[in-house]
Parts: sequence; structure tokens; C-alpha cells
Amino acid sequence: MIDLIEKLPKAELHLHIEGSLEPELMFKLAKKNNIEIPYKTIDDVKKAYEFSNLQSFLDIYYAGANVLISKEDFYDLTWEYILKCVDNNIIHTEIFFDPQTHTSRGVSFETVISGIKEALEDANKKFGITSQIIMCFLRHLSQEDALKTLDEALNFKDDIIGVGLDSSELGNPPSKFEKVFKKAQENGFKLVAHAGEEADVLYIYEALDLLHIQRIDHGVQSIKSDELMQRLKDEQIPLTVCPNSNIELKVFENYKEHNIKKLLDFGLNVTVNSDDPAYFKGYLNQNFINLYENLELSKEDIVKLVKNSFNSSFIEDELKQKYIKEVKLYEG
Ligand code: HPA
Ligand code: ZN
Repeated sequence: MIDLIEKLPKAELHLHIEGSLEPELMFKLAKKNNIEIPYKTIDDVKKAYEFSNLQSFLDIYYAGANVLISKEDFYDLTWEYILKCVDNNIIHTEIFFDPQTHTSRGVSFETVISGIKEALEDANKKFGITSQIIMCFLRHLSQEDALKTLDEALNFKDDIIGVGLDSSELGNPPSKFEKVFKKAQENGFKLVAHAGEEADVLYIYEALDLLHIQRIDHGVQSIKSDELMQRLKDEQIPLTVCPNSNIELKVFENYKEHNIKKLLDFGLNVTVNSDDPAYFKGYLNQNFINLYENLELSKEDIVKLVKNSFNSSFIEDELKQKYIKEVKLYEG
């Protein structure tokens, strides 16, 4: 089965590019850019990656992102992730980036997006990997700040397929961002949001009914409401679940407690993703392998999860059908 997991062509729909910054590149960029980081050795870094919840991770994740300064840095960051896509047989990826994490440090929106975009173009030329870019608003900041960021993004509209919402969930409900999501929708952006990672189902309802999102990032708390579960099933709203992330951030005590198999068996449109793989002990295949080893996923489950990802992606229909055909070769 591990062989099947590795061979299956896959899509990834929930990946923060800043969360793919491996310690080795962090050290290299810190040295090059003369930025201080709170670690002396790679071992120190690995020891620091012990999290108790989402916030304890975010503090370290934002500190790591400080080493990213030039367009070339964003290119290198993205290119390293692309090489992992090749290893993991990811043929389509939709990546998040957090512009405010960089513009607040004086790094321009253009520097960030042009570095990411150029690496993704090269990934397509060299490996045939297709991709989309989704810009996330930091929910611990104000809606005003998000509106300013959206205005900047309008200059790069052709490079950004959609907007999302990430960072500290508790205390920062989707309702705080109604206006900016409405404006993003009017400008033709697709809409997604992190909801129900740590916070309860009210946040998922708000994301659906106030922000009108097309995919829920995480959404694992849905299981607490029968009514919501039925709605997610009826409407087949995609959930981009990130198993390793949920374990590392203590959303579930251990892998055996993870609810993805229950969500899948109930008929929800769930997908598997790596979230911040440099911080959460593994890329996409490792997430699938951990699920398989702990939750007794069948071959049908694995193929269904992979098909769900392609079906829930923002790829145009013809290419989507081509990709799904490739996955179907592994059925039966
Ligand atoms: N949740 C919220 N914000 C994030 C995450 C996450 O899992 N990863 C990076 N930013
Ligand atoms: Zn995330």
C-alpha cells in the first residue's frame, strides 16, 4: 500500500509556502541576509519544533519567515517545495502565501509574488507540475489591513486565483472579515478559509454563510454537529484536512484519534494535505502513510481521497478530467 501511495499522482490544496521552509535553507538565508535566528544548530531547530497548540507553532513559524528577504529567497523557498512535489508525485498544487508576514517587514508584495511565481513557472516547464497561488489574510490583524492587502493584490490579479484566511483562529472569527471577502468575491477571486481547526462549528458556519467560501481548510471540528455534517455531505463542500498538522498541534491526541476516516465514511468530500511540512514532520506521502498505518485506510479510501483533491481543485475542467483519468488507472 505504501508503494501505491507513493506512485499515485496527487494534488495538494493546503500548503503554506512559508511552512515549507526547511531548517537548512533557514540557516543559509539567515547567514546571507544577516538576520538573527534563535537557533545555533539544526538540532536546536528540531528541538524547538514541539508545539502545544496552533499559537505556539505560529510564533515560531513567523520568526522563521523573517529570513526571507529577496525575490531570489522566495524563488528558492518555492523551488525546494517543488522538488518535494517531484518526490511525492504531486502533479498539481495550490499554494498559500501570507503577504502581510512580509510586507509588515518592509518586503514588497511584488518581491514575494514574483519569486513564487517564477519558481512555479519553472516547475511547469521542467516537470509539468501545474499550480495556483492563493493569498491568505492574517486573521490576527484587522480587516482594514486585509483590505489594504487586497488592494495591492489587485495589481497581481492574474497571478492569484483566490484568497484565504489563516493564522490565530480562536478569537478571530470569519465574521471579522466579511467586507474583505465580499470585495474579493466581486473581483473574481475564489474563496477559502481556515475554519474549525481549533475553533468550534460556529466558525465553519460563519465561513460558509458570511464569507461564502468554496473550500474549508481543516474543518475537522465539523464532527461536533450532526446538522453541519449533513450539510457538508449534501453540498459536497471540500475539506482540506492536514493530518500531521493536527497531530503536531494537538488537535487530536494521537493518530489513532484522528477523525478523517469517520468524515470520509460519512460521505464528506475530504482531502489530505501537508499544511506546513517543514514544521510537521513530513510531506504529503508521509501524511498518507501515517493515516494508512494508524487508521487502516483501504486502497479504495486512498484513491478516493486523491480523487477528491483533484475534483476540489481550482483547475479548469478539461485538465481536471485528464488528471482524474490518471488516478483511475490505480482503481480496482
Ligand atoms: N492554521 C492557521 N494558520 C496557519 C496554519 C494553520 O494550520 N499554517 C500556517 N498558518
Ligand atoms: Zn493551514
